[in-house]
Amino acid sequence: MAYAAFRSIGAYAPTRVLTNAELSTLVDTSDEWITKRTGIKERRIAAKNEFTSDLGMKAAQKALERSDVSVDDIDMVVCATISPDYFCMPSTAAIISTKLGIKGATAFDISAACTGFVYALSIAKAFIESGMKKNVLIIGAEKLSAITDYSDRGTCILFGDGAGSAVICATEDKSEAIIDIHTGADGEYADLLMTPNGGSGSSHDALADEASSCFMQMKGNETFKVAVKTLTKDVKEILADNNLTADKIVHFVPHQANLRIIKAVGDALKMKKEQVVLTVSKYGNTSGASIPMAINDIYESGNLKTGELMLLDAFGGGLTWGSALIPFAPKQ
Ligand code: COA
Repeated sequence: MAYAAFRSIGAYAPTRVLTNAELSTLVDTSDEWITKRTGIKERRIAAKNEFTSDLGMKAAQKALERSDVSVDDIDMVVCATISPDYFCMPSTAAIISTKLGIKGATAFDISAACTGFVYALSIAKAFIESGMKKNVLIIGAEKLSAITDYSDRGTCILFGDGAGSAVICATEDKSEAIIDIHTGADGEYADLLMTPNGGSGSSHDALADEASSCFMQMKGNETFKVAVKTLTKDVKEILADNNLTADKIVHFVPHQANLRIIKAVGDALKMKKEQVVLTVSKYGNTSGASIPMAINDIYESGNLKTGELMLLDAFGGGLTWGSALIPFAPKQ
């Protein structure tokens, strides 16, 4: 039987830094308020002519360089994004494939907001285990600045741009295999976090109002509470299903939305400080890119070693959620 191995990681963060101090010149807020309520100090913003596909391509290039897989061997590309280059089509995955020189591989986007990378991972695992694909490139890429309302202090302080990518390959070695992935969704909570305009559900009036057509809107306080509950429950379930306890996890990689959410979840799960991966202070919430950017951070700092067990835990608009148990399995 083929198993799916998490071979490599890469990420890209645009160079422009947007600080809390700069945001406080745009809306009525302060560095102190943002830091205390979210843990975010700064976030990255893509250039005007830098698209989500450019961010994704740069992250994917790094992931490919760090794997032993060439672009010719990639047979599927999945991009998780809520800020695609183009509304509906073509998919950002197809554009990234072409920018990388990948020809003829299956390519499509998925929409699962901040859980997108975990969903993409589950798709890669399923295609590989079924024998349909061998080398899958997955990407979480977001230019959230394009759908952020910089006059709304409840959202604009949270989000940033970036991308992360991983190469997932078939292996016969069970010790390298992604152990388990859980994903779920509940549309009952759809209105907590949404881009209400611009789709077929919009009125023509809203469509005409171009300026607000694709901006994110959020009920922050309610989202916070559901996030803590869902992220904690999800991890408890995947650990129990696999007869594992929190102390076996080397790197707990939660979605980087808010430091207070991460702390509440980490405490509820009895994770030690050194287990919890944190990048929220420097990148803010980059939605589908947040988890792979965080994995890349531990990789580039030399803290991610072969065989070490990662536990991913994500939550996002939809609502969606997902968790994954993954040994890091670079090609030896
Ligand atoms: N600066 C200053 N004050 C602000 C502010 C800002 N950027 N944003 C909101 N406030 C104010 C509110 O207007 C409110 O004022 P009031 O008491 O006079 O009415 C007060 O701060 C408290 O607002 P509240 O929304 O209850 O704050 P909070 O502690 O819940 O923090 C968030 C707001 C958005 C930081 C927090 O709710 C959050 O992070 N939620 C989760 C968001 C998230 O993770 N989303 C993505 C999920 S994938």
